[in-house]
Parts: sequence; structure tokens; C-alpha cells
Amino acid sequence: MENITYIAYLISAVCFILGLKKLSSAKTARQGNILSGIGMLIAIAVTLLDKQIIDFTFIIAGIVVGSAIGAIAAKKVKMTDMPQMVAVFNGFGGGASTLVALAEFYRFTTTPEVNVSITLVLSLLIGTVTFTGSFIAFAKLQGLMKSAPVVFKMQQFVNILLFLAIVVLGVLFVIQPSSGLELILVIAISAVLGLLLVIPIGGADMPVVIALLNSYSGLAAAMTGFVLNNYILIISGALVGASGIILSNLMCIAMNRSLINVLFGKVGFDASAGGGEKGERKQVTRYTPDDAVMMLENAGSVIIVPGYGLAVAQAQHVLQEMASLLEKNGTEVHYAIHPVAGRMPGHMNVLLAEANVPYDKLMEMDAINEDFQNTDVALVIGANDVINPAARTKKDSVLYGMPILNVDQARTVIIVKRSLNPGFAGEDNELFYGDKTMMVFGDAKKIVTDIANLLKG
Ligand code: TAP
Repeated sequence: MENITYIAYLISAVCFILGLKKLSSAKTARQGNILSGIGMLIAIAVTLLDKQIIDFTFIIAGIVVGSAIGAIAAKKVKMTDMPQMVAVFNGFGGGASTLVALAEFYRFTTTPEVNVSITLVLSLLIGTVTFTGSFIAFAKLQGLMKSAPVVFKMQQFVNILLFLAIVVLGVLFVIQPSSGLELILVIAISAVLGLLLVIPIGGADMPVVIALLNSYSGLAAAMTGFVLNNYILIISGALVGASGIILSNLMCIAMNRSLINVLFGKVGFDASAGGGEKGERKQVTRYTPDDAVMMLENAGSVIIVPGYGLAVAQAQHVLQEMASLLEKNGTEVHYAIHPVAGRMPGHMNVLLAEANVPYDKLMEMDAINEDFQNTDVALVIGANDVINPAARTKKDSVLYGMPILNVDQARTVIIVKRSLNPGFAGEDNELFYGDKTMMVFGDAKKIVTDIANLLKG
């Protein structure tokens, strides 16, 4: 039986790795999801059979209740609320690792080896920090608590003290692992540490923090895998840990910020406050959907640039309809996807895939940036920071150094948004006042619907 188990674990590990690989492209992401799901199914089934569970009652009850909650939540959650949902998942992952590791401790009949004791303490520390940290992230994004940073004097010092206390308790436990008291204290202090680590981070930076907490939840699972001596838990936990940290890093690179800056910086600290310095407003001409249609009808090529506003307005379906009408008119249409457009990784890809935009129309920034100079119209829908030229020129801008879409190189730029307000970074955008820019003010869904109707007419 043991060999069969190992072979099955190997197969599920291969499924996880191939699944992750496929998740890196919009075209193959669905297959990747299914493949990883199959891997998980094999891992769970084999573990249940291998461990010869005596009573399946609680397991079946847990599966039924958990699946029902998961299915309803996944169906009901809005795309823009997805980061909160991921935060909750991470929190439960971390909490589960803590509980399983603690339960395993109470099952020990002999003194655990040093390596098991160390991984047990690490599992409790990382799992609990992930649990409380993720629920703070959830509360901030859901508006249950203020999204602005909560800071107090000596905060970092308190964090360091708490961490040192955990290290001391951990060492005591490893030296003499008889009493569970140290472990309970490790859990309690880690819970406070998780809260304190996330409260100083602004709501708008939460997506990066959530990717990081996702990585932590994987590491906690891997540590629990060592405690249980379960290879597939170690492998899957390590994969989640590694991919989470890679994702956090990619997000930081695309935003031109360091992880340290996200965790301890002040940029974008309160997106709900609606931006930073407004500065002196210059004159801008207000164009109408009719003006936009005149331009679009005569364009041979159009690049659509979606941003956070598209997601807020839920305008993806009507945008797809409008693009089809342009194509029928003989216009070549593509979508330019900036890696951090929106508020979560892959936000625009998921949104547009939901509206059945063909994958080959979605172009990554590097693949399309050269094409703007030969394009008649760049049609920007609810995007701002990802097209802001300040990222190239304004050295004191928080955006400085972030690669942007070369929208300003198109022959005409049409920007659809509700006002001249800045985006996430709070930085004014010179492009709004450019000679070849047409600002069409209004809710993205309303304006794109108007444009689509005029194109039909
Ligand atoms: P933003 O720079 O945030 O700009 C979005 C624009 O959409 C706003 O200026 C807003 O202007 C407009 N808008 C909002 N609601 C709208 C509606 N109903 N209809 C029309 N327009 C609407 O978005 P972006 O260009 O996508 O850039 C993303 C930013 O988020 C970057 O700074 C990025 O670093 C940051 N960020 C991204 C992520 C990930 S992983 N994607 C994670 C964290 C942070 P009005 O108010 O004038 O309408």
C-alpha cells in the first residue's frame, strides 16, 4: 500500500506542477485549474484510504458543509470582491495548519524528534499569523474596518518583542517538548502578531499582502506536512509558498515598488480617500460618445486599454459587444493588458474572459507596446496609472519607473472615466490634457453602451 500511496502522491505532485504552469497563460488557465483539482482529489482520496480512517462521519459532514459554503460563495462573489475571498481562503488555510499541527502534538505518544518539534512551532507561528492577518485584510477590503493604516508609536518594536517571545517559547518547547503550554502561548502571541503586521498596511495595498499571506499559508501547510510526515502536503505547501512569493514579487516589480515599501511604506495608503494632491486643474475639452464614435468608425486599428474602472462599472460585456461591432466595420481590435491593471493579479484577463473576449485578442504589455505608434485609436476604459506618462518623466512621482502602456503614441487617445480624479497612486495624469486626447466623461458602462448603440445605429 505504501508504494501505491507514494506513486499516487507523485502523480498528484506532477498534476500540481503542470497545473501551475498552465495557469500562467489565459489560454490554458482553465485546464490548469482542472488539472490541479484532479491532483488535489487524488491526494485527498489516497490520504483518506492510506490512513485507514476509522470514522468517516465528521469527514463526510465537513466535506458536505465545506463544499456547500465554497460553492455558494464562489457563485455569489463579485469579481471586484475576489481579493477578499482569497484572503478568507488563505486565513482558513493558515488556521487549518495550526489546528492540524496542534492536534498532532496531542496525539504524540513519544517525545518528538527535534526536527518535528521545530516544524511544529513554525507551523503554529506561520499558520496563526496567516489566519489573523488574512482576516484583517478581509475586513479592510470589505469595509468592515477602516482601510487606512492603523499605526501607533513603537509598533515595529512591539512586533519585534512579540517575535522574540515566540522564538524563546519555541526554543523552550524544542528543548523539552512535554508541555503544550508553550505551544498555546505561541498561538496566542502569533495571533496578535498577525493583527499587528497587517493593520499598518493601507487597504489599497492589500492585494500584494494577500499574495504574501497566500505564500505564508503554503509554508504553514508545508511545515504541517513535516509534522505529519506527509510528502504531498510538504510538496503542495512548498508550491503554494513559492508561487505566492513569486506573485507578490511580480506585482511589486510591475508597480515599481519593493515588498518592504508595500509592507512599511505609505503609497496608496487610503484608496478610498480618493487620491492625493489634486494640483492646479488645467482646461480640458469634454467630448461626447458621438465624437468618440466618429473617431472609432474611421479607425483602421483600435487598441482597447482596460483598467480598474472597467471592473467597477462591470462594463466588460458591453465592451466586448462594442469591439465586435467595430470588427464588423473592418477595424482591427486588440486589448492591451498591463500586469497590474485593476486591483488583483490577472484582473483584466479574468474580466474579459468572462465576457468571452477571444484570448488571442488579449495582448500583454511587452507584446503590444510597440504597436501603439501605428495605431489609430487607443481607447482607454477606466485605466489611469497604467497609462500615466509621469511614470517615465516625473522623478518624484510614486509611479516613476513603473513600465506603462504607450497609449500616448497612438494617433488619437480616447479616455473614458468619470472625472479628472487620479487613480490608485494619487498622481495627476498629463495625458488627460494632451492635444490628441479626447476625454469622454461618465460611467464606463453607460458610455460604452452609448457608443455601442451609436455604432449599431
Ligand atoms: P487606476 O489607476 O486605479 O485608475 C482607475 C480609474 O478608473 C480611476 O482614475 C477612476 O477615475 C476610473 N473609474 C472608477 N470607476 C469608474 C467607472 N464606474 N466608470 C469609469 N471609470 C471609472 O487603475 P489602473 O489604471 O487599472 O491601475 C491600477 C493601479 O492599481 C496601479 O496603480 C496598480 O499599481 C494598483 N494596484 C494593482 C494591483 C493589481 S495586482 N492589479 C494591486 C494593488 C494595486 P474616475 O474616478 O474619474 O472615474
